[in-house]
Amino acid sequence: MKVIVLTGAKGGVGKTTLALNMAYAFARQGKRTLLLDTDMQGGIALSLSRGLSQRGGWFEYATQEVNAQSLIVSTNQSLLHILPHGQVVFSELVAFERAMQSGHALQRLRDELGDLYDLCIVDLQTGLDLRAAGMIDKADFLIAPLAAEPLSARVVPHVLSFVSQCQKAGAPSLFLGFVLTMWQAADAQSTKVVQEIRTRFPESFLFYTIISHDEAFVDANELGMPVGMLRTPPPAVAMLFEQLCVEVERRMQMTTEEPNHEPRYLVDRS
Ligand SMILES: Nc1ncnc2c1ncn2[C@@H]1O[C@H](COP(=O)(O)OP(=O)(O)O)[C@@H](O)[C@H]1O
Ligand SMILES: [Mg+2]
Repeated sequence: MKVIVLTGAKGGVGKTTLALNMAYAFARQGKRTLLLDTDMQGGIALSLSRGLSQRGGWFEYATQEVNAQSLIVSTNQSLLHILPHGQVVFSELVAFERAMQSGHALQRLRDELGDLYDLCIVDLQTGLDLRAAGMIDKADFLIAPLAAEPLSARVVPHVLSFVSQCQKAGAPSLFLGFVLTMWQAADAQSTKVVQEIRTRFPESFLFYTIISHDEAFVDANELGMPVGMLRTPPPAVAMLFEQLCVEVERRMQMTTEEPNHEPRYLVDRS
């Protein structure tokens, strides 16, 4: 099981939306996927169903000797399972912080479920803090969503510096890149931000796929589902997540491949 953590310095950038829709797209592409919500705001469960937000989940797992499989919820997509955040218990908060910051909770989850899933997508809480550092310490990869809005470019150095400090402290996780979200093509400011980020930062920092701002997210959120399930055929924006997942997979593979810049031709030119 490869663990991909979604993190960000700012809230409201589309992180939970990205986690849910990416997990759905990966499952559709045949990956046994676990969507893990470690954000105390429990955005995943809240957006999907009231029942889900009243269940036990990650909080119980991190603070008690319980089995993860008893807390995991299956979905209508056979390869997609969810471990919701669960119920916060005030007297257990210190234990929860400790389990997150030390990375023990995630390590235990990996030991228990490593063979059952191909991927675990983690919706982390907003903020570059010790909890994030603990999770990054036990994850394989990191992705940071970035809203296509003014000031976003300022967040980039903060995220990169935090990740590099985690790596210097020994975290093995690799940064796969920023994903621009909520891009409003008709809005000059939003487009300017995309251009600015594309020109200021190296190609390798940024996913080619950009998630557009789309009304379908409002409808899907209200109904509690990924955009790909909204209707048949699905809204065009759902395709962006399919493309993004291909790109994520490619970037994960690239971290283990030697780069080769020699041109190769489709047809022998000699
Ligand atoms: N690409 C998008 N287009 C339109 N609305 C979006 C998009 N992505 C997210 N939203 C909406 O923006 C709000 C915040 O998104 P969310 O994923 O919860 O952000 P975060 O987890 O970073 O706080 C939600 O109401 C969500 O439905
Ligand atoms: Mg969220």
